[in-house]
Amino acid sequence: MSPYEEVILDHWKNPRNKGRLADPDLVGMEVNPLCGDAVRLELKVKEGRVTDVRFAGEGCAISQAAASLLTELVLGRTLAELREMKDEELLSALGGVIPTRLRCALLPMQALRKALKTSA
Ligand code: FES
Repeated sequence: MSPYEEVILDHWKNPRNKGRLADPDLVGMEVNPLCGDAVRLELKVKEGRVTDVRFAGEGCAISQAAASLLTELVLGRTLAELREMKDEELLSALGGVIPTRLRCALLPMQALRKALKTSA
């Protein structure tokens, strides 16, 4: 099994931070129009820093595993840092993604960007 497959399988079977926050400060949702898969990201923010995060969604293993991994990457970061975050960071943490599955892997990044747009 490749490192990429191991990361996907781990997060798919044992998703981190899955669920909903009682009172999120920022919410972003993205749907892949090609398949209908969706990722919703909820953030709790204190003094400009992410203090809690959850994801919810339905979809393929890659999109949901990427969402789980992304929650680990955003926790503790400032909103300013997240606005600068590049797709490559998530793709690299996933261990590389084949081009045909890029849209799946980046669905959570689009949800994050939508959530950040709702912040001041
Ligand atoms: Fe729909 Fe992956 S097949 S996001």
